[in-house]
Amino acid sequence: TVLTLDFGSQYTHLITRRLRELNVYSEMLPCTQKIAELDFKPKGIILSGGPHSVYDAGSPHVDPAIFDLGVPILGVCYGMQELAYRASPDNVIAGERREYGHSILTAKPVNGKVDKLFEGLEDSMRVWMSHGDKLVKLPEGFHTVATSENSEYAAITHGEKPIYGLQFHPEVTHTQHGTHLLKNFAVGICGCQQNWTMSAFLDQEITRIRTLVGDKGQVLGAVSGGVDSTVAAKLMKEAIGDRFWAVLVNNGVMRLNESEQVEKDLKEHLGIHLTVVDASKLFLSGLEGITDPEKKRKFIGGTFIDIFEQEAKKIEDAAAGSDLPGKIEFFLQGTLYPDVIESLSYKGPSATIKTHHNVGGLPERMSKGQGLKLIEPLRNLYKDEVRALGRELGIAEELVMRHPFPGPGIAVRILGEVTQERVNIARQADHIFISEIRKAGLYDKISQSYAAVDPSRAVGVMGDKRVYGYIIILRAVTTTDFMTAEAFEFPWAFLQKVMNRIVNEVDGVCRVTYDVTSKPPGTIELE
Ligand code: XMP
Repeated sequence: TVLTLDFGSQYTHLITRRLRELNVYSEMLPCTQKIAELDFKPKGIILSGGPHSVYDAGSPHVDPAIFDLGVPILGVCYGMQELAYRASPDNVIAGERREYGHSILTAKPVNGKVDKLFEGLEDSMRVWMSHGDKLVKLPEGFHTVATSENSEYAAITHGEKPIYGLQFHPEVTHTQHGTHLLKNFAVGICGCQQNWTMSAFLDQEITRIRTLVGDKGQVLGAVSGGVDSTVAAKLMKEAIGDRFWAVLVNNGVMRLNESEQVEKDLKEHLGIHLTVVDASKLFLSGLEGITDPEKKRKFIGGTFIDIFEQEAKKIEDAAAGSDLPGKIEFFLQGTLYPDVIESLSYKGPSATIKTHHNVGGLPERMSKGQGLKLIEPLRNLYKDEVRALGRELGIAEELVMRHPFPGPGIAVRILGEVTQERVNIARQADHIFISEIRKAGLYDKISQSYAAVDPSRAVGVMGDKRVYGYIIILRAVTTTDFMTAEAFEFPWAFLQKVMNRIVNEVDGVCRVTYDVTSKPPGTIELE
């Protein structure tokens, strides 16, 4: 493992990503992490960049115990300034101007040899700079291994200890051969093996779950048909068989035929022990009259928990009469690494920590109310790694590549009040849009797509008659992290075809629009 200590740069998590792409396992923790409290021994440590100046009162500093571990250390940008400042405050000066953009880096051989960090790389490469302060003096014992147009000290190393500093960011794609450089550090200098693969992860995780749950333990989990809960459920099935109980709650705002399809996929394709609860009437009647988006979310989340708890109780009661152990002790949750990073990364002393919105507070209430212990097998994985794990588990490509769907479902895709009529319209329009996207071979090029209903009506003319109908809003975006997104550029003919089908096939609709807003300022969902 390479430990990445985060000083708050927007690029930090990319260091972890790049290393994992090299099949080297890497974890990210806040820069304030106490080394004595680590539950693993890293083979190397990377200190990330960050928005602070080492001079600021209250600027973050690393636990000096990292230097006692005897493992290689690489400081990137602020990370390098931190190393130099520690040696002597005179080594760093507060920059008057930020340096932001490309620079040309030239490796500087020492005794006729380039440093290990630059092995196999060209002598000169384009790198990405983004810093305010800069190094003006070499810390004692260090020498320069590369220079840039603006700095004598673009890359430095300690002569005797494996400590390195880079002024530029090797983790961003703007830096040529940045991944090669990180490989030189992790593999060449730290001696990490490139054996972090999904099949190795799967074996490890199954063993871990079996040990944790024991021979008799039972696990309960909610499934939605989405990638994360499906992969987590299949993993539990592999680990403990029918002692894993999956529950699907049909909340009445799922897509067309979705509950039936998910039931079929999970039971028939994946052999998962599944209970389906049809609570659609309860949800739809409760949604009557609610127009505020947050109130919709709260109602759906709260009702979901009520039903789920009743189901858990029923499963326990049924087990009491069988030879299965009565008590369910564990609760499966499909938390992913980006959620963990959001709550762990260093955001300064006034950090506010985001609460996950996975299934509307479900884990907290379940674990508090019923004393359930959480199992989060995907908490160290990024979405694309979860997809790779799904393939490793033999889950069909169509399920593995599904676009995300929010917990409150179509309810946040109907502006204003949710009624059965509007749900039906949203479902049919969405079905047409997604089918056409699939037919055109565009599904995997888009990150998320759907059709929403705007219930304020518009006038139209159809078959020589005046009509007064709903407006459909189509939305399709591309994104890597769902934090920012761009609208997808469809060919015009494609949009016309979808428009034609929707106005002709969906009763009550007379107009179709395409939402071209990026995020920000828009969000991916309309509510
Ligand atoms: P926004 O709309 O915030 O969405 O740009 C970003 C991603 O989060 C999903 N999303 C939700 N998922 N419950 C969920 O489970 C929610 O309340 C919720 N709101 C948004 C959205 O679909 C997108 O993938």
